[in-house]
Amino acid sequence: MKITVFGTGYVGLVTGTCLADVGHDVMCMDVDADKIARLEQGEIPIFEPGLTPMVERNVSAGRLRFTTDAKTAVEHGVLQFIAVGTPPDEDGSADLKYVLAVANTIGEYMTDYRVVIDKSTVPVGTADRVHQALSKALNARGSKIDFDVCSNPEFLKEGAAIDDFTRGARIVVGTESDKVKELMRECYGPYNRNHDKLMFMDIRAAELTKYAANAMLATKISFMNEIANLAERLGADIEAVRRGIGSDPRIGYHFIYPGCGYGGSCFPKDVQALARTASQVGYEAELLNAVETVNYRQKTTLFRKLSAAFDGDLAGKTIAVWGLAFKPNTDDMREAPSRTLMEAIWDAGGKVQAYDPEAMKECRRIYGERDDLVLVADRIQAVRGADALVIVTEWKEFRTLDFKWLKEQLSLPVLIDGRNLYEPSAVHEAGLMYYAIGRGESL
Ligand code: UGA
Repeated sequence: MKITVFGTGYVGLVTGTCLADVGHDVMCMDVDADKIARLEQGEIPIFEPGLTPMVERNVSAGRLRFTTDAKTAVEHGVLQFIAVGTPPDEDGSADLKYVLAVANTIGEYMTDYRVVIDKSTVPVGTADRVHQALSKALNARGSKIDFDVCSNPEFLKEGAAIDDFTRGARIVVGTESDKVKELMRECYGPYNRNHDKLMFMDIRAAELTKYAANAMLATKISFMNEIANLAERLGADIEAVRRGIGSDPRIGYHFIYPGCGYGGSCFPKDVQALARTASQVGYEAELLNAVETVNYRQKTTLFRKLSAAFDGDLAGKTIAVWGLAFKPNTDDMREAPSRTLMEAIWDAGGKVQAYDPEAMKECRRIYGERDDLVLVADRIQAVRGADALVIVTEWKEFRTLDFKWLKEQLSLPVLIDGRNLYEPSAVHEAGLMYYAIGRGESL
């Protein structure tokens, strides 16, 4: 099947590559010529486990091609996926200018029937706007070629995107058209063998499903963070509470890990955008607003604990930071709790000595060279000469730690753990003060 994907960002590249991998003939289009040139050389702009070899084998098999030429891209696929960015506007709603520009391009160049598929996370009602933009472009040419617009949201997690694409729980498709249903069945057929994961629904339901899923997951996290903060003040251990409630299948063990707040390019943006959509239709989404407020506060919790450990005086102190990415297995630092922490340390006159297995290049790109940011090659160097250690991201390599050794390295024996990696009793035994999330001692 011939498929075109607009946008070679995270979603576009994973979608295009996975579809090529099952034999489809895929063309990925991007307006960024530099990015396309690098992709053609096999240089992948994002860190995603397994993606590089998958791109390589499909490019060499001739099933995956890249282009900057819009006309060629529109001519190529009967399916035209839109997977371009939807950055938040100043007021938190999603900015659709790139999505609508692609719709316009398709309308300008199409010569035959096309299915235009919204893959990007877009507010409810966007498919209608894409439809209008396309009709307008066709009218301008005096053309009456038939087309359909459908919604097919993605549910990929960074760091596990290929697995999520190939073995996802569901494939949501918003359409009323039987022709589109048939084409989408053919497209996803290879990934839909064992049981039928395709869920057809009306377009607005599909669009809302995406936001509802992310908002529900973000709600679980904020809820747990709230209970963890309460547990700290009540002298209860949140880890026991987590196991206690997770064992109820109605609640479940997934996504109830308390921490230093959710980050990334999805939850913060999508919760905000859904709340914004709600107020646009005259509904105040109280719960969504609270989810966001709790998360905002949670991202400041590491600094609050750190500052309290130093009696509010961090001037001239060197703080070791383990983990910069918003979660493991990615180099992404968008909305990462590490940024809230580091910026607060700098404001307080402290210095950061940080290590992350993947995100240091990204950190340098964001903050540039500065005296109060030292990036080191491993976790051991990060604590050398430091006054305290804060763990922000739960990379696997941080899961074991010689607490006695750590105590010798730090001027103040303080370990602040934003991910609850260790058993408090073992850390205390080594003579360290241990402040985690919702585990006994509150600071
Ligand atoms: C999220 C969703 O999980 C995907 O299903 C969705 O497709 C994607 O957004 C998207 O909309 O594109 P992602 O942002 O990659 O995926 O990351 P998650 O693994 O969901 O983690 C999000 C944040 O929640 C991280 O900061 C993580 O540390 C935090 N988290 C997660 C917790 O604090 N506690 C948990 O129990 C789970």
